[in-house]
Order: sequence, then structure tokens, then C-alpha cells
Amino acid sequence: MVSWQLLCGRCGTEHAHDRLQGLCQACQGPLLVHYEHGSVPSLERVLQRAPGQFRFPERLPCPEGMRTPTLGEGATPLLPIESPDAEIEQKSFWIKDEAQNPTYSFKARGMSVAVAMAKTLGAEALCLPTAGNAGVAASAYGALHGLPVHIAMPKNTPGGIARQCRELAAEVTMVDGTIADAGAWIAKRGQEQGWFNVATLKEPYRIEGKKIMGYELFWDLGKLPDVIFYPTGGGTGLIGMAKAFDEMEALGWIDSKRPRWVCVQSAGCAPMVRAFEQGWEQAGLWENPEPTSAFGLRVPGAVGDFLILRALRQSQGTAVAVTESELRQATAEFAGRCGLWMCPEGGACLAAWRRFRGQAWLNGSESVVLFNTGGPLQYLGD
Ligand SMILES: Cc1ncc(COP(=O)(O)O)c(C=O)c1O
Ligand SMILES: [Zn+2]
Repeated sequence: MVSWQLLCGRCGTEHAHDRLQGLCQACQGPLLVHYEHGSVPSLERVLQRAPGQFRFPERLPCPEGMRTPTLGEGATPLLPIESPDAEIEQKSFWIKDEAQNPTYSFKARGMSVAVAMAKTLGAEALCLPTAGNAGVAASAYGALHGLPVHIAMPKNTPGGIARQCRELAAEVTMVDGTIADAGAWIAKRGQEQGWFNVATLKEPYRIEGKKIMGYELFWDLGKLPDVIFYPTGGGTGLIGMAKAFDEMEALGWIDSKRPRWVCVQSAGCAPMVRAFEQGWEQAGLWENPEPTSAFGLRVPGAVGDFLILRALRQSQGTAVAVTESELRQATAEFAGRCGLWMCPEGGACLAAWRRFRGQAWLNGSESVVLFNTGGPLQYLGD
């Protein structure tokens, strides 16, 4: 049996984990899972197990009675790309292709764990705001666990996203404004109706699902890369993987050296880049975020901003904002050159990587992993 504590990531207050929890009751910070060391199989034994999201249950919250039915999430390929760009040499370059998850994005990972936990702890219905992929994943795992799902999304979200959510039996409401407006709307309704809110970092377990991407990098490479490019909205994946690396160090699998994070955002909504450059510990709200085809990056305020900034600085990492034309061009050129059509968020990472050309910060002999967090098809249509 896995034993863990639920502690606030900001003030450290402990919260009981035998019931549904949202944000910290003392300071409204995000709650994080801390595992007691317990009995853990050796790395060799773990590697003998079938790959997939639930390969290492010793580092997932698994209370008694929890069921984890699966849609086949996790174990996505780490694709070696020989020559990602005609003019830039990068000896070791991989793409972690999260589009190959159920519901075509990495959001399946977080939802596979968060919805299983919510069900175990007695939730009767779920709600969340979404700019796209999280809504589809929540709908799918809600259906899998027999829980109704209520979703609010900004009116300009691609029609295919709402369609997928509805096909998966969710109730969808289109809201004026950004994801922040959709978030405020659904939080109010959810509270009135008694729906459990599974918005980014507003419950503790999506991050536990997303962190498995970090374990998989290590399991596949036998070490961690020098640099990771990650498209950052709410930052769950980045915070989760940074947490996974800390857990791996506590297990004695790695030393204290970390991959340098490159937090990638879109120029029209780049609160983390601004805060990183200004030396701030919190990002605050980005006023008037501009539309971008990379919907997942249009997050003007992130609950876990301080955790993202901390991870960037501790890893000697950095943050880069790319323009819409840069990310579109990078996506198209890469698709034609390498045979992989990435989502705009993945393309944003590629555009960010190109920015380092000729700069001392990243040299051609370092190993780089870039995250393609989803597929492009869900963005088609209006
Ligand atoms: C395809 C895609 N990439 C990246 C993100 C940002 O994810 P995170 O919350 O981990 O920063 C999202 C979030 O919606 C997304 O859908
Ligand atoms: Zn707190």
C-alpha cells in the first residue's frame, strides 16, 4: 500500500487525503502529493513491467478500492529526430509524442489519475473549464468511470473540441472571454451544483498523472536529457515532471543534476516569460491575452506560477515567447521535413528551439527533448 501526505505547495499545510480536496484551505495554493519512502521495487524490476501510465503504482496515489480502468494512456514514443532543421545541428534530438495518447493529447495522463481518484473519493459529477484538450480528456475518463462531466469553454474554441466532448457525453457551455472567464463561470456553477472541479492544479492528482512523462523520459533514455522544451499554459506537465525528477533522486535513480527547462509560451500571452525575465516569484495576471492557434498556451494566470518559476530557476532553465508566425512556420516546415505534424503548442517549442541557434546557452552536442503535447486535428474547423 502506498502511503503519502497531501501538503500545500505554498505554505506546507497538511490536508487529509481520504476525501475530495481542492486548493489549500489556508492560502489557496495548490496541494501536492508527498510519498513516504515505503517499499519500492528496484529500477530493474520496474522496467520489467509492462509500460504505460500505471507502470509504477508505488509513486501514484492508489487508495484502497481505487479502480484504474484504462484507455491505453501513457508509454508514448520518444522519437529520435535525425535532422530536425536543415541549418541547425543538434546531435541528440527527440520528440516525446503525446499525440499518441487516447483523446490525442497528454491531458489523458492527468485525467486518468484525477478522475479515478475523484470517483474513489465519492465525487458524483465533475466540472472544469478548458481551452480544448483537457475537456476532451475529462469527458472520456468521466465516461469511463461513469461520472457526468460539465465543461465551460471560451467561445472561440475550435468546434471539433466541443463536438468531441459532447460525443463523450459531457455537457458543454460556450462562454465569452478567455479560459479564465470560463473558469470563473464553471467554478460558480460547480459550487452551486456540488460538482467536483478538476481544473488545472485546483485538485492534487492531475499533476500526479502528468508527472509520468518525466519517469518515461528516464525509463526510455536510461538518463535525463540536458534540455527540455515544454509548451506551458497552466504548467501542470512542467511542475509534474520536475516533481518526478525529485522523486527519482529520492529513490536513488538519479543525482541532483536536472535537465534545463525551456518554458515556451506564445508572445500574446506570456506571463511566465515576463515573470522569469523580471525576476518575479509569481507571474500575476496577463492582461488582454491575444488569440493564438496554440490554445493550450492562452492561460493568462496560472495557480502554480510560483512552482513553474521555481523549477525554471532551480534547473538553470529559461523561458521563451514565440510569435504566431514563428510557430506556424516551424510547425509546417517540420511536418514537411520530418513527417510529423505537431499541434501548434509542439510547433511553438520547435520555434523556441530555433531561437537558440548560434547562442552559447544551448550547444549542438547537448541532448534535447521537445514535447509535442497533442495532435493537430482537434484544432481544425471553426
Ligand atoms: C496541446 C497542449 N499543450 C500544452 C498545454 C499546456 O499545458 P500545461 O497545463 O501542462 O502547461 C495544453 C493545455 O491546454 C495543451 O492542450
Ligand atoms: Zn497553503
